[in-house]
Amino acid sequence: MSGYIPHEFIDELLSRIDIVDVIHSRVPLKKAGREYKACCPFHNEKTPSFTVSPKKQFYYCFGCGQHGSALSFLMEYEHLDFVEAVESLANSLGLEVPHEQGKQGKKAATKRNRDLYDLMEEASHYYQLQLKSTPQAVEYLKNRGLDTQTSKQFGIGFSPDSWGAIKSHLSHHYTTRQLLDTGLLIQKEDTGKIYDRFRNRIMFPIRDKRGRVIGFGGRVMGDELPKYLNSPETPIFSKGTELYGFYEVRKNTRKLEQLLVVEGYMDVIALAQFGISYAVATLGTATTTEHIRQMFRAVSTITFCFDGDRAGKDAAWRAMENALPLLNDNKEIRFLFLEKGEDPDTQIRKVGKAGFESLLDSAITLTDYLVNTLQARHNISTREGKAHLLNDVGTLLKSIPESLIKEQLITTMAKLTNIDSNLIKKYKLTVQRYSHTDQRIELGQSTSCLSDRKVRLTPVRYAIALLLNEPKLVDYAENPEKIAQYPIAGVSFLAKLLEIFEEHPNLTAANLIERFRGSEYEAPLINLTKWRPKTDDKTVLQREFQDCLRQIRKKARENRLESLLHKERVTGLSPQEKNDLMILLSEIH
Ligand code: UTP
Ligand code: MN
Repeated sequence: MSGYIPHEFIDELLSRIDIVDVIHSRVPLKKAGREYKACCPFHNEKTPSFTVSPKKQFYYCFGCGQHGSALSFLMEYEHLDFVEAVESLANSLGLEVPHEQGKQGKKAATKRNRDLYDLMEEASHYYQLQLKSTPQAVEYLKNRGLDTQTSKQFGIGFSPDSWGAIKSHLSHHYTTRQLLDTGLLIQKEDTGKIYDRFRNRIMFPIRDKRGRVIGFGGRVMGDELPKYLNSPETPIFSKGTELYGFYEVRKNTRKLEQLLVVEGYMDVIALAQFGISYAVATLGTATTTEHIRQMFRAVSTITFCFDGDRAGKDAAWRAMENALPLLNDNKEIRFLFLEKGEDPDTQIRKVGKAGFESLLDSAITLTDYLVNTLQARHNISTREGKAHLLNDVGTLLKSIPESLIKEQLITTMAKLTNIDSNLIKKYKLTVQRYSHTDQRIELGQSTSCLSDRKVRLTPVRYAIALLLNEPKLVDYAENPEKIAQYPIAGVSFLAKLLEIFEEHPNLTAANLIERFRGSEYEAPLINLTKWRPKTDDKTVLQREFQDCLRQIRKKARENRLESLLHKERVTGLSPQEKNDLMILLSEIH
């Protein structure tokens, strides 16, 4: 197990390589002004929106939003983890990667998680070995028509019929705490007894985008219940953001055109075996907006394929609702309902790849699905029925961003109900208040996609963005220690950046991103790095930067003044505070 790689080494590494070379040798780039461009390797496109900035040593795709340093590029493009990406770059330079052992503090959490990933990898390996030596399990998979190659590709394994198999296997390297944290072990509440969660089950490892095992699904081989048991939510596994099979999809298809969302593990696997390698599944949960957002980063067409039963219909409706906030005229979402009693696994075995793909071609668009379902739900030959339908429509419309799709939907509804489309629009506005907040909360929770929201460019953020574009601006800033004292959100981070740039004037934005990888600063930092100033004129940038600092100082004074005045009223001030207040008041005018 490797220790930490000191950030000085990462800095050195990044300063020795050029991101343009690293990417160009894998994806040929063309020069375009000060930057380089190519068709994005992470999604399918005809006009290049993948940009590489030599100055920031940063890449960014305006189409799918992929971004990062040379290291991130290697991680994404070659599916490496961070340490592997560092090693790969270091190797190309003939450098040895130094591993620091046991540095505590802020990296402890990352370290803990890294151990958990290793643990899960070992567990997965163990389950796969167990499968080999359990004829009954091999037989089960064979009976289900699974070939060995596909089974290997998805890392399918078997958990022995024992209360302590994984426990004793992994206890040599990992603590019971870690085993409980990953959900591989359960502790009984009343007796405190600790035992294996997965027993006598076919094991499906769930991998994250980088291919790391983060959870498992386990299926019984008979009729016992529950049919599937899944890993609980853990520090490294969150069902609302992970999609089963996504890693395999990306690994097997460099140029993804579309994604197919199905309900079950076995569906993804059977489809892959029959040559449909672009299917993913949610993990026994509804499809979330975050799931859809992630898929839309990779493709612009998503087809949801559900069983024709009640549960499938409910799942489809939920998926549709959660997709609405992401609708736009460049994206397409479609729905395919299979006949009752079929799921993709059974269906593709009956009709084969071509047959299944022609079914996919017959999938209906999201708006058709929406209109049809609402129409079936309400009797629009009555006024009441129309009103109910419009009520539903209003609720749905408010989540859809302004777009042609939305306009068309309104027009369709107007025709259908014989109600003027302006009235529908107006009506929609009156119900807008309802779940607006839910949506905000949902967006707020996902840290990886701040850019989807319009982040307000506060003076602090703007100063950081300018600095990332032009680190030399650090010369125009005052003492970072002083800035860090200002009672304003975000200043301590600005101060930290100033300190780093003061000490290492030649670092680029990419270096900083690497330094803050895995920390709470990573996402905001990346977002601010994506921003590009309208001009390259140094004096303009300098003026803007200084203006930001001025505004920050002013705001700091106001905040401090306010809090002192408040304190004066409530508890009174110390002599020092009184003095401060006098000074502040005298500065105000
Ligand atoms: P299904 O019941 O449709 O099973 O559940 P399936 O995928 O067709 O599985 P096979 O073909 O019988 O083996 C669909 C998905 O719902 C979740 C699992 O993720 C499953 O793949 N599920 C189902 C559970 O989490 N727990 C259950 O008990 C059942
Ligand atoms: Mn099935």
